Amino acid sequence: MVKISPSVLTADFLELSDALRQMEAAGADLLHLDVMDGVFVPNLSFGMPVIESIKKHTRLPLDVHLMIDRPHRYIEDFAKAADWLGFHLEAGSPVEETLRRIRELGCKSTLTIKPGTPAEAVFPYLRFCDMVLVMSVEPGFGGQKFMPSALEKLRALRAECSRQSLSVELEVDGGINAQTAPLAAAAGATVLVAGSFLFSAGDMGATVRQLQQL
Ligand code: DX5
Ligand code: ZN
Repeated sequence: MVKISPSVLTADFLELSDALRQMEAAGADLLHLDVMDGVFVPNLSFGMPVIESIKKHTRLPLDVHLMIDRPHRYIEDFAKAADWLGFHLEAGSPVEETLRRIRELGCKSTLTIKPGTPAEAVFPYLRFCDMVLVMSVEPGFGGQKFMPSALEKLRALRAECSRQSLSVELEVDGGINAQTAPLAAAAGATVLVAGSFLFSAGDMGATVRQLQQL
């Protein structure tokens, strides 16, 4: 089954506990948390204090997506709350060392690539990754349109994982909806992030179940 990681980026933050209950009741597998610093991406979101509070109020594993410059400076902090901790290959940190550190700190490691970065850039690091996140929009904002170029990258990563006999989750993030989710799953994605689509769905539970069946 495909795992679903709802993103709270578009939720009402004063109603966050309701959103958490809603996602849990809907049968979400993970909870996707987008951390933005206004430097690596042209937007600001939230950081550790919010994630620490979320951690206290949910049993869902936290899937933290760092969109921050030189993320290795903050790995220790985020690892205290994250279950899956991911950073961008383009963000200026030593990639192998940071992936190893994430695992040493007891988290699952995720390496993330922007739409302009080829899948092959990840290949040398695959054995240090528990998950690879392929962005299907330019990172920074929810509610954007899915870029089909992500599909070819998912296929290339799936093939390379088989070639190296590695079991790595492949996550896709940005513009996932009823039309794009089946394409991503068919291309090899095992974890789908969905923000605006899930939060605008009439019945989040039915929508999550529908995506999980893909
Ligand atoms: C964008 C974020 C995404 C975003 C997805 O930078 O990484 O996680 O919340 O939102 P939708 O599903 O609305 O594209
Ligand atoms: Zn994200």
